[in-house]
Amino acid sequence: MLWHALVVLAAALRAAADQAVYTAGSGALAAGWENWSWSSTINFADTTGPGGLEAISTVSGAYAALSFFDETPFANNFAGLQFEISGDQPDISFYVSSSTDNDQTSNIELTSMSTSVTTSNFTTILINFSDLPGNGGVLATDSWDRINFQAGGNGATFYITNIVLLSEIVVTPEFLSAEPLAGNLLAVTSQGAVNLSQVSATMNSKNVPLTKLTTYSPPDTPAQTITYFTLAQPITNGSLVVTAGTSTFSYSIPAVKYGTITIGNTKAISDLIYGVNFPTDAPTISTLGVTLSRWGGNAVTAYNPDGLFTNAGNDWYFENRIASPPDADAWIAMVNSANSKSLLTIPSLDWVAKDATSYSYPKTVYPDQAAYDPYNADAGNGQFPNGSWVAPPPQSDAYTPWNTSLAAQWLKGLAHKPDIVTVDNEIEIASNTHQDMHPIPMGYDEELKRVIATATMAKSALPGVSVAAPSTCAWWYYWTSSVGYTDNAAHNNQDFLPWFLAQMKAQEATAGQRLLDYLDIHYYYGADTSANDAAAKALRLRMTRSLWDPEYIDESYIGTSVPAQWQEPNPNAVWLIPRMQQLIQQHYPGTKLSISEWASTADTDITGGLVAVDALGIYGREGVDGATYWGTVDAKGPIGLAFWLFRGTGAQFGSKSVQVNMADRNEDVLGVYAGTSDGKKVSLVIVNKDVVPVNLAISNIPAGTYFLRHFGGDAGIAKWQTTIQIAANGNLVVPAYTAVFLEEQ
Ligand SMILES: *[C@@H]1O[C@H](CO)[C@@H](O)[C@H](O)[C@H]1NC(C)=O
Ligand SMILES: *[C@@H]1O[C@H](CO)[C@@H](O)[C@H](O)[C@H]1NC(C)=O
Ligand SMILES: *[C@@H]1O[C@H](CO)[C@@H](O)[C@H](O)[C@H]1NC(C)=O
Ligand SMILES: *[C@@H]1O[C@H](CO)[C@@H](O)[C@H](O)[C@H]1NC(C)=O
Ligand SMILES: *[C@@H]1O[C@H](CO)[C@@H](O)[C@H](O)[C@H]1NC(C)=O
Ligand SMILES: *[C@@H]1O[C@H](CO)[C@@H](O)[C@H](O)[C@H]1NC(C)=O
Ligand SMILES: *[C@@H]1O[C@H](CO)[C@@H](O)[C@H](O)[C@H]1NC(C)=O
Repeated sequence: MLWHALVVLAAALRAAADQAVYTAGSGALAAGWENWSWSSTINFADTTGPGGLEAISTVSGAYAALSFFDETPFANNFAGLQFEISGDQPDISFYVSSSTDNDQTSNIELTSMSTSVTTSNFTTILINFSDLPGNGGVLATDSWDRINFQAGGNGATFYITNIVLLSEIVVTPEFLSAEPLAGNLLAVTSQGAVNLSQVSATMNSKNVPLTKLTTYSPPDTPAQTITYFTLAQPITNGSLVVTAGTSTFSYSIPAVKYGTITIGNTKAISDLIYGVNFPTDAPTISTLGVTLSRWGGNAVTAYNPDGLFTNAGNDWYFENRIASPPDADAWIAMVNSANSKSLLTIPSLDWVAKDATSYSYPKTVYPDQAAYDPYNADAGNGQFPNGSWVAPPPQSDAYTPWNTSLAAQWLKGLAHKPDIVTVDNEIEIASNTHQDMHPIPMGYDEELKRVIATATMAKSALPGVSVAAPSTCAWWYYWTSSVGYTDNAAHNNQDFLPWFLAQMKAQEATAGQRLLDYLDIHYYYGADTSANDAAAKALRLRMTRSLWDPEYIDESYIGTSVPAQWQEPNPNAVWLIPRMQQLIQQHYPGTKLSISEWASTADTDITGGLVAVDALGIYGREGVDGATYWGTVDAKGPIGLAFWLFRGTGAQFGSKSVQVNMADRNEDVLGVYAGTSDGKKVSLVIVNKDVVPVNLAISNIPAGTYFLRHFGGDAGIAKWQTTIQIAANGNLVVPAYTAVFLEEQ
């Protein structure tokens, strides 16, 4: 059966000297290649994948790999490698290695080659050995003889076929997309040497002349190209048909939706909402315009600055290791060098890791555990097969004592001081995440005591530092402790966060200074979007309403059940930011609000990127004071692009939020955010969360020259940008699943 795969990077024509590794229909590796895979279930003749195309089906365990050995080392004799892959964006990375000297290239994540690998189709991937995905490097000269596709920590399931080493990369000229955009633009993506004179358009069946504006390839994805054309008349509702070479692209432009911005009505946007956790490096911070970088998460609770050790806790068999990154001081220097502020977590339990090798639950001591580390058969997960915890070992097995004097000594000794500190991380659930260290469920009183002790110490050791706490993990623990409802009852039936705020206010009076500057929470959307089908994507895109909308009943357990012990008003709506601001107003006015962990639920899916854009727009509009995204942000992936859209090199969304009113509101599928920096120049972010284009007529947007950025839609995930003209009272078209940034010049 002939199967046309979706072309993602470039379709390569086979030259005579290409070397096949595996070809669909052959049922086995090509002659001269051997299966050197490990810990994987592999079928070399599987036709159950998309379209019945024969492929190698692979189910790899944690860090296991599909690996092929070439009896005649392919060395540096090829220009690239091409393959077709299908799966639910499997967590795999690619590297080549040499069995003679054990050299290997760095791992290249599949996400840096494509973020749209699906189970419904094969995606063609081309790896250019002169421009390796991810880092743009060149495949070094070596005795390469192995090709490896290695799974991440949760394993991977995928089909792979038509794997071929290419002697030459020849790009077939092809138009990939041609979308209507803004007032009168066509955004045309292409590969290879296409003939741009062969692009024409009709609107409602009438030919509309085109003028080529510019052709652009983003510096970090040079193989991707976009050409902008201006149409001789504004885009109107009805039918738009673009003919480009032999391809045709058709759109139905809907009727106009009206709105208005009120430039005089502004509210400050905190600079610190564009933050991330553990940014990869300084160039990533600069490229994306990251303003705040957090050193946080479960693994920093046991951080021992004297030795740079930490413990993974329940995330990985309670094992000690060298922290990654190792040195907080050097890390602060790195983030500051790229103009980011820093947010440092201070360990606030009674222990930190004592070395890089110990672990709490050896099999030799606890033989009956539910699971053991696949890479260290002696390190168990601390639980019996029935899920209950084994009796915890003495903390000194893996830890050394820690207290506020040691913390003060550390902080005073830092050459680079943090701007904000948090009191540990999610300590309300330490009896789970760090069961070995703190097996007793933490209640209201203990948590308050630890916050006060650490905050008092930090304010003295780091003059001028801001303190953020209690960094509570989720909705449930905003209102109840790990002890349970008896703890609510023992505290006048007050929910945890309002009680905590009132206590910190009382403490200010006692201490003679404010100890809490930011009420810090973590927020992960409650709805289950893991199916990632059309319904789950729509849910993911509308659940951002939980950040602000009192009328949005959360589509999770939050919307259906409320424990009788909770005192919250409107308890089936999360209504996150206004709710927290109201609590602050009632219990401790003047406290800022930060969200030091939040996530999109789909970092490699375009809808995850659109959620991130929507959330950043909402944080600005609703007055959040600081936020850092959880999960390593890929500078070229959908989440990275969301940050780049607002703040990436060369652009800046306004420092003040401008009021937006849409006549026909539908925040399930549309977000419109306006800003200004000097009260005059307008910036806009529009996120179309719908599967069809949107056509907006927003009054008061000044006519003139605008810098335009966008990503998503048929143009795909790349840092697209140009400069355009916007007419007075013109309309703006935003394609399906696309985010657009406009900044008046
Ligand atoms: C799979 O790819 C083919 C060819 O590009 C295309 O016609 C088909 O619609 C795709 N199917 C899905 C489910 O995306
Ligand atoms: C390939 O190697 C894997 C891992 O060792 C093994 O499970 C599988 O049976 C091998 N397949 C063939 C066809 O040899
Ligand atoms: C491969 O990378 C080299 C070096 O960047 C570049 O010149 C060439 O155009 C690339 N080939 C393709 C097909 O992208
Ligand atoms: C490009 O297309 C135009 C219009 O069809 C044609 O006149 C021109 O010769 C083409 N150019 C090349 C280089 O093929
Ligand atoms: C465009 O929208 C207007 C207003 O809704 C409508 O009257 C008109 O028929 C539409 N035109 C087309 C071609 O769809
Ligand atoms: C789980 O198993 C352990 C060890 O067999 C036992 O001591 C414990 O009581 C069990 N817990 C439950 C809840 O059944
Ligand atoms: C903290 O621990 C150190 C080292 O064990 C000890 O010398 C010091 O007295 C302790 N400080 C407090 C306040 O307990």
